[in-house]
Amino acid sequence: MKNKKFTIFGNPVEHSISPKMHTFAIKGLGLNANYTRTHLEDGELIKDIFLKDFDGANVTVPHKEIAYKLCDEVRGVAKEIGAVNTLINENGAMIGYNTDADGFLKSSKEFGDIKTVLILGAGGTAKALSTIFRQNGIKVTILNRSQNRLTFFADKKFETFTWEEFQPKAYDLVVNTTSAGLQDENLPAPLNIMEEIFKKARFASDAIYNKKTPFLKMASEFKVPNKDGADMLLYQGVLAFNLFYDNKFNLEEITKYMKKAFIS
Ligand SMILES: NC(=O)c1ccc[n+]([C@@H]2O[C@H](COP(=O)([O-])OP(=O)(O)OC[C@H]3O[C@@H](n4cnc5c(N)ncnc54)[C@H](OP(=O)(O)O)[C@@H]3O)[C@@H](O)[C@H]2O)c1
Repeated sequence: MKNKKFTIFGNPVEHSISPKMHTFAIKGLGLNANYTRTHLEDGELIKDIFLKDFDGANVTVPHKEIAYKLCDEVRGVAKEIGAVNTLINENGAMIGYNTDADGFLKSSKEFGDIKTVLILGAGGTAKALSTIFRQNGIKVTILNRSQNRLTFFADKKFETFTWEEFQPKAYDLVVNTTSAGLQDENLPAPLNIMEEIFKKARFASDAIYNKKTPFLKMASEFKVPNKDGADMLLYQGVLAFNLFYDNKFNLEEITKYMKKAFIS
């Protein structure tokens, strides 16, 4: 079988564990392929590099939206989200998918029956999660620090608030999709707002992984069961990997191999 070539495009991309996850799956399944990192400053170059050198790729911050625009065809939920994290080279055409959304949905299944979600933040991750939650009949509210990014959600008739106008209710799940807590010790919203949210929330989840963020610490203080973004990362990778191989593998088998990247 031909040696397949995969990569992840991003900036920064040096700390991504996607190469490790995919390499475990490639080796575990006995495939002839390699998965590298491609640091890319200028997202406009993504299509030329991808089609020349790769069979499949993942895309991370900050290139998911530009990659979406450059695709020859976008499939599935990515069409509504406006961002892609997975690229397939289909006979010289760049096909885009978004597996972040389904990855998060799967990772939140362990919380049981969720009917209402409060999403903190209004960036690319919030777009992916709000779209997939709505498709699954879940009521979504978006709370963001500033107004500008909320327009995308208001146009789609989501309930949106800035901090100043927010009236907290009881939510089944509250998700942090802001970058607060990633490289600092900030909460995603002012303390008094977070207190009101956690008093009534049933579950909490952070998109940030491998770190107990101030958001997750506060959830624990309020005895709200919570988890970080490791499962989201894992499942988006599992789904992307199977797209690379025309969905011919068993998702649980891929998951088994990819999980090794988180413990070694
Ligand atoms: N686990 C995974 O697989 C996975 C996948 C994707 C992303 N992520 C994580 O998700 C997070 C968001 O990524 P993204 O691509 O959606 O980012 P993004 O598009 O840049 O959006 C960032 C959002 O965070 C808000 N924000 C930034 N700093 C804040 C602060 N100090 N306080 C409150 N709000 C703040 C911004 O608000 P303004 O509009 O006011 O600027 C914006 O709404 C990142 O931490 C990323 O690592 C994880």
